[in-house]
Amino acid sequence: MARYGILTSGGDCPGLNAVIRGTVLQGQTVHGQEFVGFRDGFFGLVHGDVRTLDRPVVRGISQQGGTILGTSRYGPYTEPDGGAQNITAVLDRLAIDGVIAVGGDGTMAAANRLMNDGVPVVGVPKTIDNDLRATDYTFGFNTAVEIATEAVDRLRTTGNSHTRCMVLEVMGRHAGWIAMYAGVAAGAHAILIPERPESLEQICEWVTSVRRRGRSPMVVVAEGFTLPDMPEAYSRGGRDGFDRPRLGGVADVLAPLIEERTGIETRATILGYIQRGGVPSAWDRVLGTRFGQAVSDLVADGGWGEMVALRGTDIVRVPFSAAVGNIKNVPIEYYNGARAVFG
Ligand code: F6P
Repeated sequence: MARYGILTSGGDCPGLNAVIRGTVLQGQTVHGQEFVGFRDGFFGLVHGDVRTLDRPVVRGISQQGGTILGTSRYGPYTEPDGGAQNITAVLDRLAIDGVIAVGGDGTMAAANRLMNDGVPVVGVPKTIDNDLRATDYTFGFNTAVEIATEAVDRLRTTGNSHTRCMVLEVMGRHAGWIAMYAGVAAGAHAILIPERPESLEQICEWVTSVRRRGRSPMVVVAEGFTLPDMPEAYSRGGRDGFDRPRLGGVADVLAPLIEERTGIETRATILGYIQRGGVPSAWDRVLGTRFGQAVSDLVADGGWGEMVALRGTDIVRVPFSAAVGNIKNVPIEYYNGARAVFG
């Protein structure tokens, strides 16, 4: 019987458990496959740390946030134990025929490298940031947008009560998808995204015009947004396990600048990990389940080196190379359309 190992890698994301369940159900019911789970992402693969995954284990987990397997930003080539040769030996020892890697761009790049080095891997795209190329949407994004939208709604009532300007920072790394969707959904007066730097003058003009109408300005800013004179996205220091700067904190920079220039009392809120935690939305559970079922079909067909993806309403298969490299940004026309009614 074919036996596969599933791992979840990178930042956790609502819907991961739906993928695990969908894969195991489809695999056992339709293809007669067996599964184990690697604990804590590539760390479990490198160190051969596995747990059984069968129907009783995945029962009722779709509605749970996080991942029952644990996750990490540990890379599969991390010294001293990592590398394709060691991983091949681990797979042989555990009688595992291939790896299903569920993750974002860092994970897909690592999976692509492993594949080129002879390790059989397939991918499932995951990230709240929705910035992975070759798929229209990733699961987790919808839940993050719902949470961020609720946060804007809540900030607006307190902002209105105090006639303050409220600035909400959301996640997304170098893509503005969460900011765009939550900002538009909640009717923010300005949305600031990494794809389009805006000057402080412009931001203050929007804020002031809102106040002139007697309203309390609401600004949504993506963590990767830069003012024109910022050389790179704001980071309070530190790098993650994939050696990328940890972003976050730009709202704390922006709010005092807005207050100083406009004279309008301004408060910053950084939404942070709330966006990633908790119960996945129905949409994310459905997409996660569909991806899970599709990746079981993919390994049954021996589609190593491919990733399942959403195109329109269809689940398709794409090579890793289509997903890695650049990220998927918010199209500038889409941003400009929303921007036309800011202020
Ligand atoms: O990629 C998902 C994400 O939540 C980003 O939006 C955020 O910048 C990053 O992960 C935070 O990562 P960490 O969990 O390593 O702090």
